[in-house]
Amino acid sequence: MESQAELLALAVSVARSAGDLANRMRAEGVDPVATKSTATDVVTAADRAVEQHVRDTLQHVRPDDTVLGEEYGGGQGHAAVRWILDPIDGTVNYLYGLPQYAVSLAAEVDGVVVAGVVRNAATGREWTATLGGGAFADGRPIRASGETDLGQALVGTGFGYAAERRLHQARVVAGLIGHIRDIRRFGAASIDLCLVAEGSLDAYYEKGLNPWDHSAGGLIAAEAGALVTGLDGNPPGVDMVIAAPPALHAHLHDLLSKLDAAGGP
Ligand code: IPD
Repeated sequence: MESQAELLALAVSVARSAGDLANRMRAEGVDPVATKSTATDVVTAADRAVEQHVRDTLQHVRPDDTVLGEEYGGGQGHAAVRWILDPIDGTVNYLYGLPQYAVSLAAEVDGVVVAGVVRNAATGREWTATLGGGAFADGRPIRASGETDLGQALVGTGFGYAAERRLHQARVVAGLIGHIRDIRRFGAASIDLCLVAEGSLDAYYEKGLNPWDHSAGGLIAAEAGALVTGLDGNPPGVDMVIAAPPALHAHLHDLLSKLDAAGGP
């Protein structure tokens, strides 16, 4: 079995070439080719091409591993390593040319994420972590915010694609916003988690994330000292992901629980 460092090195090299491919395709023009859950949940040709590129590269280097990807699924069955991939997290930003979209790639061994990279393809910023090995931005160690007062906290979040869910999420924001410094919605969950890791956001939460949205960024935030959980003792998952430094986490968690942030459609 390869070391975590070797898995990370492979993840980084694949994420870089994947980000380059996304940028080349964007320069040639980008159009939605399909929609998924709703009319605003778009897929571009680049989402598919980048995922295929990562799959082909991993398959060539490590033929026995499996890959769970946003566009083509997979990842079933037992393998030494399962890779978890969002080829372009922040697809709507990609579509509009907003420089906040990322390749997110995590390596999981026996159900535990041990290495992860999030690369903002638009800016070239890159966050990495290995389990127990700390978190880094462009090679430099990072730590989550030292803020202890939720009233001073800048909190990131995101919204799903379905109107009913978005309405519920907006009601949660309405209940929260009077208790914090302000809200940010940047549009790429993996990057949001890395912003928590480096203290550019004090905290982040979102309902409805899939493993490809939060696996790599969640490890990076945790390795930077944030607590990354769900609600009510649950692990981070589709019902809720909260990432916050320990001093903020309980207060934010309890408020989100009171606001039924994991509830609704
Ligand atoms: C989306 C982004 C967005 C978040 C959504 C995700 P996608 O991923 O991460 O910030 O709010 O929940 O689905 O569709 O751009 O890969």
